[in-house]
Amino acid sequence: MNKKTFYITTPIYYPSAKLHIGNTYTTVAADAIARFKRLTGYDVMFLTGTDEHGQKIQRIAEEKGVTPKQYVDKVVAGIQELWKMMDIKYDKFIRTTDEYHKKAVQKLFKQLYDKGDIYKGAYEGWYCTPCESFWTETQAVDGKCPDCGRPVEKAKEEAYFFKMSKYADKLIEYIETHPDFIQPESRKNEMINNFLKPGLQDLCVSRTTFNWGIPVEFDPGHVIYVWVDALSNYITALGYNGEDTTLYDKYWPCDIHLIGKDILRFHTIYWPIMLMALGLPLPKQVFGHGWLLFDGGVKMSKSKGNVVDPVILVDHFGVDAVRYYLLHEIPFGSDGIFTNEIFIKKTNSDLANDLGNLLSRTVTMIEKYFDGVIPKPDETADVDNELIELALSIPSKVESAIDDLKIPEALDHVWTLIRRTNKYIDETTPWILGKDEAQKGRLGTVLYNLVESLRMTSVLISAFLPTTSKKINAQINTDVVTWDSLSSFDGTIAGTKVNKGDVMFPRIDVEAKIEELNLLVEEERKLARKPTMLPIKEEITIEDFDKIDMRVVKVLECVQMKKTKKLLKLKVDLGGEVRQVISGIAMNYKPEDLIGKYVVLVANLKPVNLRGELSQGMIIAASTDDDSKLFTISIPGELPTGSTVR
Ligand code: ME8
Ligand code: MG
Repeated sequence: MNKKTFYITTPIYYPSAKLHIGNTYTTVAADAIARFKRLTGYDVMFLTGTDEHGQKIQRIAEEKGVTPKQYVDKVVAGIQELWKMMDIKYDKFIRTTDEYHKKAVQKLFKQLYDKGDIYKGAYEGWYCTPCESFWTETQAVDGKCPDCGRPVEKAKEEAYFFKMSKYADKLIEYIETHPDFIQPESRKNEMINNFLKPGLQDLCVSRTTFNWGIPVEFDPGHVIYVWVDALSNYITALGYNGEDTTLYDKYWPCDIHLIGKDILRFHTIYWPIMLMALGLPLPKQVFGHGWLLFDGGVKMSKSKGNVVDPVILVDHFGVDAVRYYLLHEIPFGSDGIFTNEIFIKKTNSDLANDLGNLLSRTVTMIEKYFDGVIPKPDETADVDNELIELALSIPSKVESAIDDLKIPEALDHVWTLIRRTNKYIDETTPWILGKDEAQKGRLGTVLYNLVESLRMTSVLISAFLPTTSKKINAQINTDVVTWDSLSSFDGTIAGTKVNKGDVMFPRIDVEAKIEELNLLVEEERKLARKPTMLPIKEEITIEDFDKIDMRVVKVLECVQMKKTKKLLKLKVDLGGEVRQVISGIAMNYKPEDLIGKYVVLVANLKPVNLRGELSQGMIIAASTDDDSKLFTISIPGELPTGSTVR
């Protein structure tokens, strides 16, 4: 029998040097959905990868003094490592620098050109390099990118254009007749009203000002616009325009493109229009999830105090604490918040208390009362049926929550069972039953039910928290882990011996841990505080330079100024003339360090008053940007004061 197929993708990631915890959300969520679909019987294709071309990458590589390929190879290896650490089980990883992808994209570009949907023209407008997007004069209000607010650059060049406008009406109709296509609903209206209804402009789809990209085969001075290159990955990865199209035939159209809301426009306008022009079916759904926000409301980018590095978080809390937080804290379609404090508290309450305790109490009692052997259920009571009924109602609820991509809700359903099971312990008081030999039968039933509830929990969480699920299975020693086994409350095999293991989620001391993390952040900051170089100023002529008159002076007197830590008052000898100079170098020099030294003075600088003292010139110094290190320029040999410095 042929299984139903399910094709899910994440965006392909830009190889940024470091991914923060927010970046990992899309992939963790897609992984959970993919695992869940596999568990519930689908033939799944889960695709992720990296988006390696474009001006932004070329610039980063140049700054680092390596080739773009050297740069991306290194970063991509790190991203793959990260996915391994996060328990991401993808079926395929595409790199846009893969040869087959490049060939397929070149072919695709040619197909659109031959069809007349791509034509050559000239581009004049504004370009946002970080977003790799073009904007018109009216869109780029105040010279800023309407998407990210960063400054745009003027771009003027010969370029190819894609006739997007030709397909606009067809796309509007498609969106309106396919209510599931753009999800959540609110984002659909945004796309239609803000972009499609005002009218689409033809899209510039090639660049000539840099070369890190896929060349247009028939016009090699041009590289293909990075979004055309990137979006195509969803079909080239399956072999479209390649040698073997088996996967394409099997999995396209895609069931879900899971993406962050920031890139919805590309996926719900450019991409479907490209597909329409190619005569290919459109994806069934594009889902734009919300963002993980950092401290009350800022779009998360850099940490200000919180550890947001997924490697450190996994190292300290384990992969499933991180996965749980991501999957549970970003509500369907809207934003979530991340702080170390909320994260640790959630880990303590939901994972250590609710789930971890349930497992350790259960296994401990089986060891204590039944020598570690899972007892057979015997005497039943009404309270058992309540638990059993609830347990059996959970799987379908989880499944339908996932069908609607409401991942936090799916987890809430599982936690309803976990909490109900903890309550069942309080209700049945096994520690009291254990004191009375006559109650052994009843105790056996209670403990069996606890193990069975844990077994079901383990299957239910296996897509979300795969490592934890395996740990539970190891402790209750079960390999009955199929979705089908959730249809009756008897999958646990009595007579099996449990294996008590380590505590899965040790309780974390919130304050001590935050203190520890703060120290870590501080350390990282110190390491990261690399010297920054100020940009070189605008070019000047030798005549301009010649206006500055610098002279050798000898420091005769020097005192610290009152009421300021920064200023020194100096008397210097300039060819027999004594001048007073106020200099902001007191943080770096003590007066006695300077007396008798020969330093350089800008002698023709217009005198100023500093804190009520006249300053006739300026002592020059070399320093770091923040003046934490500073040295005056001193003369190593003997020169008459007043000698020129050129
Ligand atoms: O956009 N919270 O790649 P990317 C949640 N290469 N999600 C976040 C996030 C946050 N704080 N920060 C980033 C690209 N993301 C393109 C895609 S697809 C053909 C090309 C998400 O590396 C973001 O929304 O900038 C996106 O889904 C993913 O991380 C990768 O972003
Ligand atoms: Mg982005």
